[in-house]
Amino acid sequence: MFLSLVLLGLCICFIILHLTPRRPKNFPPGPPVLPILGNILHLNLKNPLEDFEKLRKSYGNVYSLFLGPRPSVVINGVKAMKEAMRPGKTVPRFTAQSGGKRFCTLCNIVLEHRRKSAVLQMFLQWKQLTDCDVLCSCTMLFCAIVSNISFTGKTLTPQIMFHNVASNIMCQVVFGTRYEYDDEFITTIVQSAIEITKAANGPWTTLYSSFPWIRKLPLPFNKSFKAVKRCSDLVLQSLNEHKKTRVPGEPRDFLDSEDSTFSEDKLIFTAIDLMIAGTDTTSNTLLTAFLYLINHPHIQERCQQEIDRVLEGKDQVCFDDRHQMPYVQAVIHEVQRIANTVPLSVFHCTTKDTELAGYSIPKGTRIIQNLTTVLKEEGQWKYPHEFNPGNFLNDQGEFVKPDAFMPFSAGPRVCLGEGLARMELFLIMVTLLRKFKFIWPEDTGEPDYTPVFGITMTPKPYPMKVQHRL
Ligand code: HEM
Repeated sequence: MFLSLVLLGLCICFIILHLTPRRPKNFPPGPPVLPILGNILHLNLKNPLEDFEKLRKSYGNVYSLFLGPRPSVVINGVKAMKEAMRPGKTVPRFTAQSGGKRFCTLCNIVLEHRRKSAVLQMFLQWKQLTDCDVLCSCTMLFCAIVSNISFTGKTLTPQIMFHNVASNIMCQVVFGTRYEYDDEFITTIVQSAIEITKAANGPWTTLYSSFPWIRKLPLPFNKSFKAVKRCSDLVLQSLNEHKKTRVPGEPRDFLDSEDSTFSEDKLIFTAIDLMIAGTDTTSNTLLTAFLYLINHPHIQERCQQEIDRVLEGKDQVCFDDRHQMPYVQAVIHEVQRIANTVPLSVFHCTTKDTELAGYSIPKGTRIIQNLTTVLKEEGQWKYPHEFNPGNFLNDQGEFVKPDAFMPFSAGPRVCLGEGLARMELFLIMVTLLRKFKFIWPEDTGEPDYTPVFGITMTPKPYPMKVQHRL
């Protein structure tokens, strides 16, 4: 009996030891690992950022974690980030697959084809999108604001409005069309994108990517696959219409691109990914911008004074005007710093055995860039923990961009839509601030600046009042 118990104990020890993942030799340090679960219990899946920060304090700027059985290395702070993102160190980690269904996140087929695809090269240049296209979407936003004001008795909730404007600009890029906000096509796309992003932002995503064996279970993320299907049916419908009127060599938009490396399926999924990547990021940044501007009226007024002076006598703003608006530029960059819109970037993966900060990292290791630690790093910013455009102004009041400004990530994998996003933020914010004064409703209580964590950080819903200026 005693011998059997000892044998049973030994077997259990052996199984536990066998199932406990081990750090490879000279791997970055990290917390003790549990069998099967790895370090998943060290993280609050609803918002792991505080836990990541505690681990950084204990283990340094480069540490490791096991999300399930797979090792991940978390990179913090500008110095380690720059070293890690040098060309050749890491590549995109592709989307997890599940029985042919893709879990739609920012990392996607775009990544696979990014550098070699003529489709994306064309798309990257933003040739087909002008100031005017962004401004047209903005004009539609005005209509929405005005009708919303009369609708709700002067208080409005900006969430759907900013989502619509950002997604309409992406519709212009992808489908070559702008839609009325009540059009069935755009409402279905926006609604599906919200569902997909909600699933991608929720705690299930970490579990989904950490434990491949749960992917076939009927868990909440399956809902988002239905939304992907709805979106792909619409994109296919638009693609078929495009084919009827397409002129070879004269692409009108992303769906018109001809590229032999792209199957129809890939084109459809890439279009959906672009819609999602380009909508939630921009709209949440705009929401953060107005949350802060409304509650810092002196900063809003100073922007308006600069805008009025530079645009005097002009009908509308153009992207080049930013060079005459250092303060507005500083405010927009400060908004992006504080918004921390994609806090953990998109996970990367080492393409070969590599060295980082003196540690050895084997090929195939997941790399998590904690951009939060760079955007708020002490020593890199004059005011790391407060909203202050002074972070981007020198003593002469000129606009300067510190090295630690990396909301779009860094290196060869930097956000594909950076150029477009910067153009949108500038044109939309300047146009709105020129025309309207944005006010925090008196009966709303104190603003809550804490965003909801996700692949993209989302400000909590808030109301605002709007007054015409001109
Ligand atoms: C304020 C707005 C935005 C922010 C903060 C943002 C941020 C980011 C970040 C941090 C990444 C990960 C880069 C990496 O892997 O290292 C990314 C990737 C990506 N973004 Fe954006 N983004 C924004 C707007 C846009 C827009 C408007 C588009 C429209 C096309 C877009 C398309 C993409 C795509 C396709 C990727 C994956 C590209 C790749 O890694 O090859 N983004 N973005």
